[in-house]
Amino acid sequence: MQPHFRFAGFMGRRVHLGVTGSIAAYRALDLLRALLAADLTVSATLTDAGARFVTPLSFEALGASPVYGSMFGPAGQGEGAFGHLEPGQDAAALVIAPATANMLAKLAHGLADDMLSCQALAFPGPRIVAPAMNPRMWQAPATRRNWDALADLGFIRVDPESGGVACGDTGTGRLAPLEEILAATLRAVSPQDYAGRRVLVTLGPTREPWDGVRFWSNPSSGTMGACMAMAAHLRGAEVTVVAGPVDLLFPSGIRVVPVRTALEMHEACLDLWPSMDIACATAAVADFRPEPHGPGKFKKSGAGDLRVNFLPNPDILKAMGESKADHQRLIGFAAETGDPRAEAARKLAAKGLDLMAANDVSRQGSGFCSATNEMFVIDATGRVESWPVLPKTEVAWRLWDHLPLD
Ligand code: CTP
Repeated sequence: MQPHFRFAGFMGRRVHLGVTGSIAAYRALDLLRALLAADLTVSATLTDAGARFVTPLSFEALGASPVYGSMFGPAGQGEGAFGHLEPGQDAAALVIAPATANMLAKLAHGLADDMLSCQALAFPGPRIVAPAMNPRMWQAPATRRNWDALADLGFIRVDPESGGVACGDTGTGRLAPLEEILAATLRAVSPQDYAGRRVLVTLGPTREPWDGVRFWSNPSSGTMGACMAMAAHLRGAEVTVVAGPVDLLFPSGIRVVPVRTALEMHEACLDLWPSMDIACATAAVADFRPEPHGPGKFKKSGAGDLRVNFLPNPDILKAMGESKADHQRLIGFAAETGDPRAEAARKLAAKGLDLMAANDVSRQGSGFCSATNEMFVIDATGRVESWPVLPKTEVAWRLWDHLPLD
């Protein structure tokens, strides 16, 4: 899983996982592991059909506790007299993945004829449902109606994806990617303190073409920006990412605007900025672009007098700072080699920022292509902090805590 999905720190929160009878049931084991890695406690219920595909023992062995089976199963399964009501008493979210067409129908109509459907009906918190089934079952008018009904009933729906399914058919019906279900679940158990805020995040490198096959760029992976975008999304924000060329997966709730060059990123950001409340610029924008040689490939036979001239690129963050409205907030990042303090303070003032997070990329555990960062953080109110080496997910979470808001 990519680093920007590895959010942890949900200690003390419980998620209840429901598993129904689909071949995709084995993927619920990976979901369980990802939820446990986020410091969540997980309990589970397998329907009778679900338990034919994966065993309760597999869930118990990985750390789910308790694991419920059928409503009137043999004693000692952990369900007690009121197991059908239990998860509602202490779980922060219920996630049913995979959910069969049959389970969607039960949820849509309030049927409660087995342990999981009783638990779902009695559950007062956020309910996430991720279906998996044959494409013709998914397209059936009754399933379409049930799926719409689940939206009206307030379920958080994670759409299945398209592709080949186990029976050999092709179409929509495959269980959504793990990351999509995980993101929906983590969002359901996160504080929603950024709900209603529109957040723009720039990330990744820019790529400045020189000839038809070569470009000028840098090794930014976009991970820090992806963590900022994910943390804001989990906390309820409406997030738009303007991404240079990166290999990153985002949940469908995050809008991604792909760009290549600094000029394209500049144009996209200035278009979006007036409709945003906050922008966070993590992109490693190329400050200069080579004067283009032309659309074709430069041949080495012509390299005798090779010279590349560079032209300045616009400073995107500075341009957003110059047109910043009173209610808007701007976060900048600075990658320095050496002590970042003086440069962080200079850039905070020069670019009209509310918060600047700087790091020394020459230090181990900080900077490009690393899953961790050691940050020096300074804000417009004069607060100055130095943070230890932390996962970028944790840095992102703390920065959103740290940003002075109204
Ligand atoms: N930035 C930007 N557009 C640019 C250059 C930088 O939006 N053309 C943003 C970066 O995304 C980052 C901040 O400005 O949030 C600081 O970037 P950095 O590269 O550290 O600083 P520069 O302003 O480019 O200055 P220098 O290269 O001299 O350190």
